[in-house]
Amino acid sequence: MGHSIKRKEDLRFIQGKGNYVDDVNLPDMVYGHMVRSPYAHARLKGINTENAKQLPGVLTVITGEDLAKANLAWMPTLFFDKQMVLATGKVLFQSQEVAFVVAEDPYIAADAAELVEVDYEELPVLVDPHKALDPDAPILRDDREDKSNHIFHWEVGDRAATDKVFEDAEVKAKVHAVFQRCHPAPLETCGCVADHNAATGRLTIYLTSQAPHAHRTLFAIVGGIPENNIRVISPDIGGGFGNKVPIYPGYVCAVVASLTLGRPVKWIETRSENLQSTGFARDYHMTAELAATQDGKIQAMRVKTLADHGAFNAAAQPTKFPAGLFSICTGAYDYPTAFCEVDGVYTNKAPGGIAYRCSFRVTEAAYLIERAVDVLAQELKTDPVELRRKNFISPEKFPYKSPLGWSYDSGDYDAAMKVALDTIGYDALRKEQQEKRAKGELMGIGISSFVEVVGAGPAHTFDIAGIKMFDSCEIRIHPTGKAMCRMGTKSQGQGHETTYAQIVAQELGIPAADVTVEEGDTDTAPYGLGTYASRSTPVSGAATAMAARKIRDKAKKIAAHLLECSEEDLDWEPGKFFVKGAPSKAKTIQDIAFAAYTNMPEGMEAGLEAVDYYDPPNLTFPFGTYICVVDIDKGTGEVKVRRFVAVDDCGNIINPMIVEGQIHGGLTEGLAIAFMQQIGYDENGNVQGGTFMDYLLPTAVETPHWETGKTCTPSPHHPFGAKGVGESPNVGSPAAFVNAVVDALSHLGVKHIDMPIAPWKVWNILKEKGAVN
Ligand code: CDP
Repeated sequence: MGHSIKRKEDLRFIQGKGNYVDDVNLPDMVYGHMVRSPYAHARLKGINTENAKQLPGVLTVITGEDLAKANLAWMPTLFFDKQMVLATGKVLFQSQEVAFVVAEDPYIAADAAELVEVDYEELPVLVDPHKALDPDAPILRDDREDKSNHIFHWEVGDRAATDKVFEDAEVKAKVHAVFQRCHPAPLETCGCVADHNAATGRLTIYLTSQAPHAHRTLFAIVGGIPENNIRVISPDIGGGFGNKVPIYPGYVCAVVASLTLGRPVKWIETRSENLQSTGFARDYHMTAELAATQDGKIQAMRVKTLADHGAFNAAAQPTKFPAGLFSICTGAYDYPTAFCEVDGVYTNKAPGGIAYRCSFRVTEAAYLIERAVDVLAQELKTDPVELRRKNFISPEKFPYKSPLGWSYDSGDYDAAMKVALDTIGYDALRKEQQEKRAKGELMGIGISSFVEVVGAGPAHTFDIAGIKMFDSCEIRIHPTGKAMCRMGTKSQGQGHETTYAQIVAQELGIPAADVTVEEGDTDTAPYGLGTYASRSTPVSGAATAMAARKIRDKAKKIAAHLLECSEEDLDWEPGKFFVKGAPSKAKTIQDIAFAAYTNMPEGMEAGLEAVDYYDPPNLTFPFGTYICVVDIDKGTGEVKVRRFVAVDDCGNIINPMIVEGQIHGGLTEGLAIAFMQQIGYDENGNVQGGTFMDYLLPTAVETPHWETGKTCTPSPHHPFGAKGVGESPNVGSPAAFVNAVVDALSHLGVKHIDMPIAPWKVWNILKEKGAVN
């Protein structure tokens, strides 16, 4: 632990020897292609598949009517709604799945899809979530009993007490902030190979899945296939970021086609299909207010939010949290009262609401509070750093009960702030900004002191689709002292094969190189809920330590037997037990492993292995301070990120190099969200942002040099004091970028700019303020 050993998995990745779903090729395999709706809202008057079926090489064309006969036209979503697998009756968003063509090769399947004739009758389209509840809004979901576009109202906190504080407040600040619809756009799109063997009854699904076990259970429940006859294999995954948590219609169609044809069926999305139809993220339309005293003490927060869930409520989040963990929105600050309400609505857009590199809406929450604090600082004409420091929850208040009910495990927010300020040279930058302003130049400094909540469970509160959110690890030590470690999680590039091995090395003293970590095969791994929302380290990492400690307990008995002493006479140091006071009388873990199969004490079971299903007592609360410096070109409105310092605290670190890589990746995604990315829609529901021509990915040219730093505040309840980290940079950085841009323009009276902050937006503001060059 704490060592930057090189990633074991990279040996195969850098040699092009990774094995992704599209690399799976089975004998007799055929290919599926989806027919999708060009309309956002339309009645389906008829589908003619005859011409497509006539094309040589086409094996079948499946429609919603065909699926309806098997009761599979609809499937349950992850959040108590249902979603069409293939459309029947209506289509509800552009690119919705309408028919599935299967052919001998993928090109014939794509050509045949063009020959499927669909008769659509266009219906009025609802794009703006603010209009979803208008009396004249078209009702989208006529399949539901409730003839309304309203999905849920959810509230938390004390409304009356909060309103009272606002009535009496000396100072109030308010911000309307939209966290735009965006998409994780992983390098590898989604896909599967479904292989049903009629002779054995076994269904093997190679799947781009972040949660293979949960998917196996859902396939069993929805498809009526005995779970023991389903094997889900998630091979290497090229990025998930929450995009590979939902079950998509293409998976179900591939399974149905394989059952029907008796051949393996491969379905791989195109890039556009991925962007246009798979799980979106964010789309929160938020208003936050802060009440404070004149001298800058925050007293209360009030939040009202409209959540655009698209055509089906397929949000991937724990059952008890309709708005995810959005109630972490009170942030790093200490005040007694808050109230937060969220309404979810349907619109003619793709479903989703995935946890894109975030713990279920934490990114929206962190962005909102960090924007609101800056607006308050502007209102009070005070420095945003000073305001934050005045209101931070102080270290001695942990475990801290937040006004919206969270119990923060540990934190030292001022420590992270201090490191960030020192690294960036904050005072000098403020001075430089003054000088530049005097010369008419635009420079801004943005701060974000975010708090996160990651590592769901605990199981008493957290479940997804009813399955409790524990996670697992099984360790087997072979006679020669080498180990195999199998996990309920699934890496999508985070380096699990290295870091879990490091945990075993720390706990048992077996070198990480001697520990093989395997994930993603439901036939071999213990049941787990998978990897998303930075839960791997807090939950499965903990399970790994606990399983190793169970092994150590047995190893101690074997060591006592080998050394002919009692267990009480033994001490442990990583890698060996030795007799207290006589360190040369020792047995290494390798000696003990051999003995576990060759010379165990009488009456003891052979073998050295353990499994642990870990249910965390609480979540972990990583945090950090990010500071961004921007320069703005007054001629073009272009924003240049000059410097970005990210100080993160994720408790004890397993592998600093991997953590740094996680931070770099997440910051780059945050940069893209802040300046470049949006899945937008025109008034007819046409997707704008459905290709990489419009949905921009940052390259090395746009990406600044990231400066990282850390503080270490261990989690008191985690077995080795670690917190999750993977999502922190995506959660914490958008506010730092936006705060920097607004700070650059604040003297012109600018209080907020919605993301993505494209140059034309800034240029328009400069023009409006008469400040353009
Ligand atoms: O669930 P996910 O793997 O996405 O997130 P994570 O638990 O934050 O871990 C991301 C990567 O960083 C994994 O390889 C972890 O083992 C590593 N990590 C670490 O080395 N030290 C920590 N305190 C947290 C994560």
